[in-house]
Amino acid sequence: MLENKNVALYVSGGIAAYKAADLVRRLIKQGANVKVGMTASAMEFITPLTFQILSKHHVYTDTFDEREEDKVSHIHLADWTDIAIIAPATANVIAKVANGIADDFVTTALLATTAPIFVVPAMNSHMLENPATVRNLATLRADNRFVMEPETGFLAEGYEGKGRLPEPSTIVESVKQFIVSQQLDLPLKHKRIIITAGGTKERIDPVRYITNDSSGKMGYSLASVARDMGAHVLLISATKQLKRPLGVDVVEVDSASEMLEAVMAEYDSADIVVMAAAVSDYRPKKQAAKKIKKSDESLTIELEKTTDILYQLGHTKKNQFLIGFAAETNNLEVYAKEKLERKKADMIVANDVSKADVGFNKDTNEVTIFIPNSEPTIVSIRSKKEVAIEIFNVAIKQMRR
Ligand SMILES: Cc1cc2nc3c(=O)[nH]c(=O)nc-3n(C[C@H](O)[C@H](O)[C@H](O)COP(=O)(O)O)c2cc1C
Repeated sequence: MLENKNVALYVSGGIAAYKAADLVRRLIKQGANVKVGMTASAMEFITPLTFQILSKHHVYTDTFDEREEDKVSHIHLADWTDIAIIAPATANVIAKVANGIADDFVTTALLATTAPIFVVPAMNSHMLENPATVRNLATLRADNRFVMEPETGFLAEGYEGKGRLPEPSTIVESVKQFIVSQQLDLPLKHKRIIITAGGTKERIDPVRYITNDSSGKMGYSLASVARDMGAHVLLISATKQLKRPLGVDVVEVDSASEMLEAVMAEYDSADIVVMAAAVSDYRPKKQAAKKIKKSDESLTIELEKTTDILYQLGHTKKNQFLIGFAAETNNLEVYAKEKLERKKADMIVANDVSKADVGFNKDTNEVTIFIPNSEPTIVSIRSKKEVAIEIFNVAIKQMRR
């Protein structure tokens, strides 16, 4: 995937700059051609010579150090680049790139780059949480820059926090996934995909309902990733809170039975169905036509089972590849494997929603992917978009078997 790709690696002045040396080695091992640019602060942490030896190329540090008469080096590097990586990306470089500032070699070359830019922030947790950094990262994302999620752990400052540079091996994997999502040779081209998202609502009366904590963020991330991989996506959404992804067909539903109806209407023509929605298992047996008035008595609401959509899809499927989700608080593996078999799904994505930063309503997720007769794939904590890429990568590999 990285074979013969021209990678411009920009190193800025963070304590994790030394890890960029290992990153260069790993990128080259994957077949990439790597050229490195460094900020002046980065050179306080690691020398250009290290990168020159590893990359076997001149290291760019000074905008005005023009050694080739017929080339302007920052433009030449920018035009040569297939993918630009900023790792580590300091708060300062992030701020400059987000605002189009070009006052050194790195930021000038980045401003001139039309290739995709992959940003790997690394900094103290308080710098990361600073509203200015939050704003700048949001600007980068809005500008279609890919921002990798920093890791949580023991920081150089001597305390736990979010802001660590992910291990170079993790960065390389994420870059590879990113390349797949950017590729012209799109892996899901011509595939029709149904994705469900959000928590269904089961009415008690006109103003009350039963629902769950699902935000729909995982389903929406899956929808935009599937679209980027070339699929025709129908998103059946039980939430109205999230921004509709461009280029995706959206059908809004409320209840489990509406969701079932919407999925079944398109099921025959689908190649892949991803049931990421949290569907109510029960609904009130009777729905009051008028608001139930408060009284001194206690109130009992009788519940009946809803149709298990995943089970129904599994037991009526033809060639569709069926992906289910299992949000559990305990016995994850046992429940996921049981669900895979009983519902005749092709893949179960399980997450332990009792963990912090995982599952419902969060922006990050950590999942284990189960497929029949194979070892599970563990996807460590990362943004829901990155998790979505990994889910489709595993599904694509399995479908090609
Ligand atoms: C010991 C030390 C460690 C630093 N680590 C980081 C870091 O991990 N992330 C960061 O954003 N800034 C860090 N800084 C601050 C940056 O070096 C500083 O903001 C600098 O201006 C960044 O320049 P650059 O973005 O051009 O590389 C560190 C500074 C020092 C002295």
